[in-house]
Parts: sequence; C-alpha cells; structure tokens
Amino acid sequence: MPAIHEILTRRLDPAWKPGEPSALLPDYAERMAALAQAQKEIAEATARFTTAIAGADDAVTLQAVRNAALSRENGAFTEALALMPQLTVEEKRVSGRALNLGKALVEAAEKAKRDALERSRDSGDAIDVTLPGRRPWTGRPHVLAQVREELLDLFHGLGFSVYTSPEVELESYNFGKLNFAPDHPARDAHDTYFVNSEVLLRTHTSPGWVRAMEERKPPLRLVFPGRVYRAEAVDASHMDQFHQMDGLYVAKNVSMADLKATLNAFARAIYRRDVPTRIIPIYFPFVEPGVQMDVQCATCTGTGRVREGRCPVCKGTKWVEVLGAGMVHPNVFRAVGYDPEQVTGFAFGMGLERITMGRHGIHEIREFLQNDVRFLEQF
Ligand code: PHE
Repeated sequence: MPAIHEILTRRLDPAWKPGEPSALLPDYAERMAALAQAQKEIAEATARFTTAIAGADDAVTLQAVRNAALSRENGAFTEALALMPQLTVEEKRVSGRALNLGKALVEAAEKAKRDALERSRDSGDAIDVTLPGRRPWTGRPHVLAQVREELLDLFHGLGFSVYTSPEVELESYNFGKLNFAPDHPARDAHDTYFVNSEVLLRTHTSPGWVRAMEERKPPLRLVFPGRVYRAEAVDASHMDQFHQMDGLYVAKNVSMADLKATLNAFARAIYRRDVPTRIIPIYFPFVEPGVQMDVQCATCTGTGRVREGRCPVCKGTKWVEVLGAGMVHPNVFRAVGYDPEQVTGFAFGMGLERITMGRHGIHEIREFLQNDVRFLEQF
C-alpha cells in the first residue's frame, strides 16, 4: 500500500500555475500551520492543490484541479480517505485528521476561487447602458431597383400593370413581329448575341408587347420592366446589358395626346414639376409616328453652357434624350391578330441606366454591375 501522501502527490500536475491562496482565504496561513503540525507530507500536497486553485485563470482550469483533488470517483482525497479502514488506529488518527483538514481547505479555496472568477466574469460582461448602441448594418435596394420601383409606382398610379417576358427571346418577337424588315438598317442598332439562328438575347423590352397582345384582348395598359442585351463595345456609357421599361396602352381611340400627357406626367414625376420637355420625330419600325422625348438639360438648365464652356452633358444642345415613343404601327397590330381599324395604341420605352445616371450624376455605367458597396451605399 502506498503512503497516504503519495496518493495525493501522484495526482498533482506540474503544469498547474501556482497562485497565492491567502488572497482567497484570510485564515489560510493558520489552517495550513495546523495541518502541517498534524502531518507534514499531506500538508505539502494540500498546499500544491490550493496554490494551483489560486493560480487558475479560468473556470476550466479550476475545475480540472478541483476534480484531481475532490472528484467523487477518483479525487486524490476521496481515494486517500477510502484507505482509512486499512490503517492502524494510530495512523488513522493522524492521517485521517490531516486528510480532513486538507480536504476542507481545498474545498474552501475552490469555492472562494469559483466565486472570484464569477465576479470578474460578470463585471467583464456587464452592459454599460451609457454607451451608444451599435447600429446593425442594413442593406438597401440597388439604385437601379430604386428607380425601377419609383417608375412602377408612377405607372401603377396611371393604371398600368406589370408584364414580364423572357430575356432569351425568339428573333421573330424581337424583330419580325415588331415590323423590322429582314434587312432593314434599324437592326444595326440592335446587334445582339444569338443562341441559334432563331433565338437571341432580346435587345429591348418591346417584344413583351407582342407576347401580351397575342395572349390578351384589348384594352391593355401595361409596363414591361427588364434586362436587355446588345453587342456593344463596353465603355463608360455603354454596356452589353442594361435595363429598360416599355409601356403600352392599346384601346379604342387612344391618341397622340394621350401619349403626350402620359410622357409629361412621367417627366414631372421623375425629373421635376416644371421641367420643359419636347417631342421630336424619329424612326422606330414598330411605331408610326415615332418620337423621341427630350427633357431640358439639368446640368446647364437649358443654356447649353456651363462656366463659359460648352455643357458636357448635353454637348451644348440644351436637351437630353430620355425615351423613344410613338403610336403602335398597324403592322404590329396585324402581327398579333388585332384589327388596326378597331384599336389604336401608344408605346414608349426608356433606359433605366440613363435615367439613373442623369438623376445622380453617375458617369460610369459599369458601376451598376460592379457590386462595390462604396458605390452602392451612396444611394
Ligand atoms: N424599343 C425601343 C428601343 O429599345 C424604344 C422604344 C419603345 C421606342 C417604344 C418607341 C416605342 O430602342
């Protein structure tokens, strides 16, 4: 049978960092002296446990020391006390008393240390209610989505609903049914990516009109927001993908006056209440007559000049083009099975990037797709 104090010492770990137990227990010195008087080796082993307890920096280390000394299954003191019945009466008297003193000292030190660790943890985690709160970082809709939502809101107010159609489109919907003649030079402005000879990435959102009209009977009042593609050389003002929103109103007796009223409502809502606008003729195969609407240049306020020089935004023309529009061409109605003698309609189409760039003074179209938060969080 090993000596009683050996049962204690073999559970000591040299890695334990010693601390000062009298900081935990005011009567530590006296209790230790009494123990040393009872049995010197048990007192020495006990001191190794209590200094390790005092030196424990955290609850896990403290628990490891506690278990080595006091665990009910294999704690050093538990095992040593279990040997008592095998000792002589005299040994029992000396070692038993020393073990009980030592065990009580380790227990007291452990409890005091646990309380101390808990107190310092509490004060470390304490909430300082006087500190300003941390604002959670919140995202926001992309600036193009913001403009799209604003436009949709405006057109909903004017009675238009949303119709979406595929980005991968049949060439007959992108061109033929919209009255592009097979070899007409109007196709040049709509160079795009072909999937095969009949399928392409749409170059405008106008094919949506054809799909909506083939599907539904007049009257129709729809807007067509979406992404479009063109095989452009990419630079600060051109990308090979961008966004448009077309509008279409087909009913009996829709006139050019209705178109102008709608476009002016748009310009006032999106630019400013009293923005001067003009409509000038331009050719699109799918409208007749076809027009372009310009708004007065906001940069030079319609003077064509900024600080003695030519206005860089309108290039001195005093106007900026914002959209194409016109009265739906009779051939488009025929292509979808509508009778051009029975219905008339207007349509318009605008580029969301252009509107957004004009509004916010953005000069680099590629920013919209770069996903750089330093750009995006400005809007
Ligand atoms: N679809 C034309 C374009 O992309 C714009 C447009 C729409 C013009 C409707 C007239 C009427 O260039």
